[in-house]
Amino acid sequence: MSATSIRAIRARRVWDSRGRPTVEAQVELDGGAIGRAIAPAGASRGSREAVDLRDGGTRFGGYDVLAACEFVRNDLANALRGQDAIDQSTSDARIVAVDGTPNKSRIGGNATVAVSMAIAHAAAAARGVPLWKHLAGDHAVRLPLPEVQIFGGGAHASRRVDVQDFMVMPIGAWTFGDAIAIVAEVYRAAGELMAEAGKLAGVADEGGYWPMFGSNEEALDMLMRAIERAGLSPGNDVAISLDIAASEFGRNGVYKLALDDRELDRDEMAGLLTDWLARYPIASIEDPFAEDDRVGWIRFGEAHGRRVQIIGDDYLTTSAPHVDRAAIEHSCNAVLIKPNQAGTLTEAHAALAAGRRHRFGTIVSARSGETEDVTIAHLAVGWDAGQLKVGSFARSERMAKWNEVLRIEEALGSSAVFAGADALPIQRVAKVFGKPPTG
Ligand code: PGA
Ligand code: ZN
Repeated sequence: MSATSIRAIRARRVWDSRGRPTVEAQVELDGGAIGRAIAPAGASRGSREAVDLRDGGTRFGGYDVLAACEFVRNDLANALRGQDAIDQSTSDARIVAVDGTPNKSRIGGNATVAVSMAIAHAAAAARGVPLWKHLAGDHAVRLPLPEVQIFGGGAHASRRVDVQDFMVMPIGAWTFGDAIAIVAEVYRAAGELMAEAGKLAGVADEGGYWPMFGSNEEALDMLMRAIERAGLSPGNDVAISLDIAASEFGRNGVYKLALDDRELDRDEMAGLLTDWLARYPIASIEDPFAEDDRVGWIRFGEAHGRRVQIIGDDYLTTSAPHVDRAAIEHSCNAVLIKPNQAGTLTEAHAALAAGRRHRFGTIVSARSGETEDVTIAHLAVGWDAGQLKVGSFARSERMAKWNEVLRIEEALGSSAVFAGADALPIQRVAKVFGKPPTG
């Protein structure tokens, strides 16, 4: 026994940003240190990601998590008691073994990720260091380039527009604090423009403005105008980033754009995106094709992988073997890291490490269902991911993460390094803009 041995694990049902139940785990160590973490929840999920255990039935629409909480209190607590919290990988291996399924479907990815993250928090508390420092060890860290949603669509806005996230990346900023200030100006300008156009209708699930647009492209135009109204230069100060989340409307190589009332095959879908890449300063594009459309992914990656960040989210589901495969087939050049897609911190970190080996961009990401939990802010810094995506610039479950990174930046003081545009796996973003489309 030592001060960092796990003594007890508790679970409680708490509530997320959509008002749905979720799992909070609390890990207590022999020396008295306590760590706590809350599982987030996605809405546009990849079919291969770890699944949340939900009770079903009618209570809270079937979303209750009482069974997952019981698995934390019993199976996980029993398996982990006496384990050294500092040794995350052994703890996570035990969690994986207790579940015993490839996708955490027995005890729930919500149970496993909450416990895995709470162990890390307890270990950091026992060592008396912030989580990011506990994770970084002796390695150098950078503050992440933020990727921030301005308009929310897709599954986060009742499919009001097809594209899920219209985002900005403040590539011209020199510090994280500046980057966030730039985003604040763009978000405010976008709100003014929406109000003036009579299109302000509140916000979507992740805090981006509810997209009252007549076409997907109108959102892109509005985003350009918002950047300019904020007195900033699109493509130089601020780049556009899109999460197409194409698995939500594409299947068997056919893409149904409801808003534009068009059905596209994979070549037409590629044509549409290529046209957008040529006309807008888009530096990053996530899930441009559905997770079942490997052919579409590979063609697009080969055509554009040198000049735009192409992120696999549903396509890679935070899985190291999938990242390795993507590197070989040239489908993506970046991986989204969502700890609850993997189910433990060790597995999520393995996906990030695989991305780094292949010189991929690595982006730590929140889910659309979030809470006040700020673990991912610490992961982005401590793992030196280079990029962080947590939704928009409103709603406190989002702001909590941005504000936590500001605190970390302040704590680093003069040794703080901002990853900025260097975090992107492409050369210079400005060159992207205005280039004619390639085949
Ligand atoms: P989700 O979406 O959390 O609803 O799955 C986020 C994303 O697609 O990046
Ligand atoms: Zn996504």
